[in-house]
Amino acid sequence: MKKILVTGALGQIGTELVPYLRDKYGPENIIASSRRVKDGCEGITGGGPFELLDITNREAVRSVIKKHGVDSVYHLASMLSATGEDNPQALWDVNMNGLINILEEARQQSCSIFFPSSIAVFGPDSPKDKTPQDTVTRPTSIYGVSKISGELLCDYYHKKYGLDIRGLRYPGVISSAAMPGGGTTDYAVHIFYDAIKKGSYTCFLEENSSIDMIYMPDVLEGAVKLMEADPAKLQHRNAFNVSAITVTPKELAAEIKKHIPGFNIDYDIDPVRQAIADSWPNSLDDSAARREWGWDPQYDLKMMTEDMLRELGKKLQ
Ligand code: SER
Repeated sequence: MKKILVTGALGQIGTELVPYLRDKYGPENIIASSRRVKDGCEGITGGGPFELLDITNREAVRSVIKKHGVDSVYHLASMLSATGEDNPQALWDVNMNGLINILEEARQQSCSIFFPSSIAVFGPDSPKDKTPQDTVTRPTSIYGVSKISGELLCDYYHKKYGLDIRGLRYPGVISSAAMPGGGTTDYAVHIFYDAIKKGSYTCFLEENSSIDMIYMPDVLEGAVKLMEADPAKLQHRNAFNVSAITVTPKELAAEIKKHIPGFNIDYDIDPVRQAIADSWPNSLDDSAARREWGWDPQYDLKMMTEDMLRELGKKLQ
């Protein structure tokens, strides 16, 4: 029987992945964890086992894995690209020291691991359009440096110790349940809240900044599909390019305008986040994920926009 630990369970992805896993494998088999609790997360903290866990504390990681007989970890706890630039040392501590704690305890207690990487592994020297799976990865953000280091470390633990570790390079993740926490792609979520609440949005990225996005239902299905894929078919592990929607702020605003005709977007550029966005690909080639384990996202720009407006319309009533 699976016993899955989810770190960072109260973040944007964890908030929806935990209920998804609890539905699939039984609530008692999914241990949600977070460094601290916040209001409005009772569904996660009360809907099955929950642990307060600081992943930078190796002892604490060991004891939670032992206590619950964990055999699989979805290691979501991470700082994102924009907040990382404010405090690179803190990002390194969480993203790298946290990861090595998880890897070491997983090695000693024989767990498989899901590792979320990012498009941030690419940098200004990578091909910009349809960025290939295997290409130059010389990132210039501290977040990207931590993610490419994490990918290499995960592959190393797989090769040296035979640990089953698999990962995805997430582009921007769009969702309605929880806010993203300090990323460069957050505009693609904020825009929906402000469209519904105010009828206008001031974007911190330039109108033609193209970045790939995926919608939460595809994120959930993709992570589990990868973890359940036949290992014999995986030529890559850490980590696969995945994408579903290639969009700019201007195009996303135009799509929203189809539903909210008076919607207006203007721009007040944040130089830090713009520089990060400029260093990332315009679009990704995710054919390796499609070929090796059947990545097949369902939501395009139109479907995602309709669903986001419907879900947020209910939530913000
Ligand atoms: N959404 C992330 C960020 O913007 C990218 O992985 O930091």
